[in-house]
Amino acid sequence: MSHVLLEGKTAVVTGAGSGVGAASAQRFAEEGAAVVCADIRLDHAKETVRRIEAGGGVAVAVETDVTQERDIAEMIATAADRFGHVDIVFNNVGIPTPRLGATLEDHTFQDFQRLVSVNIGGVFLGCTYAVLQFKRQGSAGVILNTGSVAGLVAWGGAVYAATKGAVHQLTKAVAIEGAPFGIRANAICPAGMPYTGFMAAGGLESSAEMTEKLAASTAANHPLGRPITAQDCAEAAVFLVSDNAANITGVLFPVDGGYVAR
Ligand SMILES: NC(=O)c1ccc[n+]([C@@H]2O[C@H](COP(=O)([O-])OP(=O)(O)OC[C@H]3O[C@@H](n4cnc5c(N)ncnc54)[C@H](O)[C@@H]3O)[C@@H](O)[C@H]2O)c1
Repeated sequence: MSHVLLEGKTAVVTGAGSGVGAASAQRFAEEGAAVVCADIRLDHAKETVRRIEAGGGVAVAVETDVTQERDIAEMIATAADRFGHVDIVFNNVGIPTPRLGATLEDHTFQDFQRLVSVNIGGVFLGCTYAVLQFKRQGSAGVILNTGSVAGLVAWGGAVYAATKGAVHQLTKAVAIEGAPFGIRANAICPAGMPYTGFMAAGGLESSAEMTEKLAASTAANHPLGRPITAQDCAEAAVFLVSDNAANITGVLFPVDGGYVAR
């Protein structure tokens, strides 16, 4: 029995240079997809491509800032030109508040606009150009977005949480609009992942000691007692973008060790 779930598909992954995006790009390639690895840090996207190619997979790196419409248009066009069609678009990029632990009133309006621009603006652009491409091809296609448990339950982090709540609602509405065209849209909602680049992006000291402290506190919050890893998310992503999930759309899929079930 073949275990290759994405044979013949072309997948685009944003934020593919690190964390969830890098792990997912690799897993998609292992499952037979040709992968366009998009990241604002081209050198990091290229490193993911190198790893995929070392494993015998097919991938290409593109420099993409998800807040720039022209970059997103080029990202989708690159996938279509190189591989003939686009089947999967994983809008995974998200950034934390510039100062981790910041409360609502700690944010300047500029901070707010930056989070909105990347976290929901980037997903809006990614979904829009995915839908345009799927309709142009006249074929079904799959969108996956990265939300967060922060958009499902409130623990603080108001501005980040609001952007992720918006990602969730956008995902569900795109699923409904896309359904008549065979387009599916789902979101994964990870809980705390101390081992990706995300915490450092949030200005948290990224020493090994700090990471382990964070891992311990994250684990304590999860009923299953472990932090979430990028690999956990990648496994959920593979399932949701594959034909095994052909009748699943509009779902906000927690990857959270039971966190939101509590
Ligand atoms: N780490 C966590 O605790 C956690 C928890 C819940 C949800 N999430 C979400 O998971 C997703 C992936 O996060 P991660 O933990 O893998 O983070 P990460 O920082 O390891 O990876 C994010 C990648 O996105 C890229 N990126 C940032 N801004 C970009 C832009 N404007 N355009 C293109 N690329 C850009 C970065 O260069 C990086 O390679 C995000 O949406 C994040 O909000 C993370």
